[in-house]
This record gives sequence, C-alpha cells and structure tokens, in this order.
Amino acid sequence: MATLEIRDLHVSVDAENGPREILRGVDLTVKQGETHAIMGPNGSGKSTLAYSVAGHPKYRVTGGSVLLDGEDVLSMTVDERARAGLFLAMQYPVEVAGVSVSNFLRTAATATRGEAPKLRLWVKEVKEAMERLQMDPAFAERNVNEGFSGGEKKRHEILQLELLRPKIAILDETDSGLDVDALRVVSEGVNRVQATGQIGTLLITHYTRILKYIRPDHVHVFAGGRIVESGGAELADKLEDEGYEAYTGKGESA
Ligand SMILES: Nc1ncnc2c1ncn2[C@@H]1O[C@H](COP(=O)(O)OP(=O)(O)OP(=O)(O)O)[C@@H](O)[C@H]1O
Ligand SMILES: [Mg+2]
Repeated sequence: MATLEIRDLHVSVDAENGPREILRGVDLTVKQGETHAIMGPNGSGKSTLAYSVAGHPKYRVTGGSVLLDGEDVLSMTVDERARAGLFLAMQYPVEVAGVSVSNFLRTAATATRGEAPKLRLWVKEVKEAMERLQMDPAFAERNVNEGFSGGEKKRHEILQLELLRPKIAILDETDSGLDVDALRVVSEGVNRVQATGQIGTLLITHYTRILKYIRPDHVHVFAGGRIVESGGAELADKLEDEGYEAYTGKGESA
C-alpha cells in the first residue's frame, strides 16, 4: 500500500517584502485506498500544500519532510514525482499552447508508465475514458486547456486521473465552477478510480456538495497554514453549518 507522509512541513514564498511563511507545520498521512478532504478558508494555504507536494518552484520548503513509500519526494524533480505516482489537479489548470490533449496525455502516460502505450490501444483507451466523462471526442485534438471552459478544464483533469492512474492524487477544488451535471460526472470519475482501491485521494474543497457524491474517510480543517482539526465525514457537515470562525479567530480568512 502506497503511503504519502507529510511531516511538519514548513513552506515559504518570496513575497515583495521578503520571505513569507505560508505552511506552518503540516502533518498528514494519506494511504492508497483512502479519501481525505481538506477544507479551510481562502488564503489558508491549501493550494500551497498541493503545489509544494507537486514540486512547484515558487514554494520553498524550509522544514519538514514529504515521503512517498519512504522515498524523499522533496528531493525529486517534478517529473520524478509524477513517475513515482503523484498527481496534482490544479485549482487553475494552465494552457499548453500547441499541444493537443491527445498528445499531452500520451506523453504523460509514457512518462508515468515507463513505456509508450501502443497507439491503437491508446486511442481506444482515451476514447472510452472521454465517453465515461461525457466529453466531446473533438476535445482530443484541441490544445490543452486553450479556450476550455472552467468545467471542461476540470473534466480534462479527471480524464488525466483516469488514464494516468497515480498512487496519490491531490485534487485542488476540482468541484469549483461545475454545474450539477458536471459535478456528478466528475465525482463519478473520481469514484471509479477510487473503487480500484489503488489510489489515495486528497480532495481540497470549499463545498460539502461534492462530499455528497464522494464520501471522504477523513475530513481535515486547514487554517493558518496547518491542519487544526481532523475527523470523519460528519466534520464537513459541521463546517457547512458553523463556518471556520471557531478555528481562525477574526481576520484570518483574508
Ligand atoms: N508569491 C506570493 N507572495 C505573497 N503571498 C503569496 C504568494 N503566493 C501565495 N501567497 C499567499 O499565500 C496564502 C495562501 O495561498 P493559497 O493559494 O495556498 O490559499 P488557499 O487556501 O488555496 O486559498 P483559496 O481557498 O482561496 O484557494 C495567501 O495569503 C496568498 O496570498
Ligand atoms: Mg486554493
């Protein structure tokens, strides 16, 4: 069973007036087969956590460790992290000019699987995955995220998740901007992958509505750069009713 272990993680960014500490000692363990939800106010550092684990150069780790099956993730390049089985669906997916979805996915699959998937099988695999996500097949030939609507970008992220089969996936607000039908399709995609038991999921979200489709085993409250409370699915309902005030004090949720 693959395990992602985040221990006392401290991360800073270089702000205009010098370094600013965003993550202040994050502790979290995600195992294959588990679903964790992270909820917390705007600006509390949730995306920073996702980017730091994925290896975004803007975020400087100043303390702590991230291990995947005991291997030091922080010393890996971004590519090595993907090959090791880490996947990040970004809150704001970026455009990749001049690269079609189809080519992008095949390159990514080649990198994570260690060999290029046979073209004919691959085309079929992509087509079927797109059908399950109710995506227009024409998307395969469009440039990655170029002119995609918010919801289309999120479906494309789940398409990657289905095809790349990571061990640990971090989904940063994959539910934001989805209409109810898209939310269901995207959630079903996550559940399909989760049902294999081969993936551990860290779901960052603001809304408990996605948690009606994807039942988390663990819910964590994130505030002020760290996890301040953990519980079961019922914690999400409490947050929905009561908000984060109990955790943040005034003014924390910038
Ligand atoms: N380059 C930077 N310079 C200064 N501050 C930064 C920089 N990058 C990030 N931050 C700050 O780090 C904090 C955490 O940002 P982050 O995006 O991780 O929050 P979040 O919890 O994902 O919020 P949201 O719920 O709005 O997505 C914010 O206050 C943000 O302004
Ligand atoms: Mg965020």
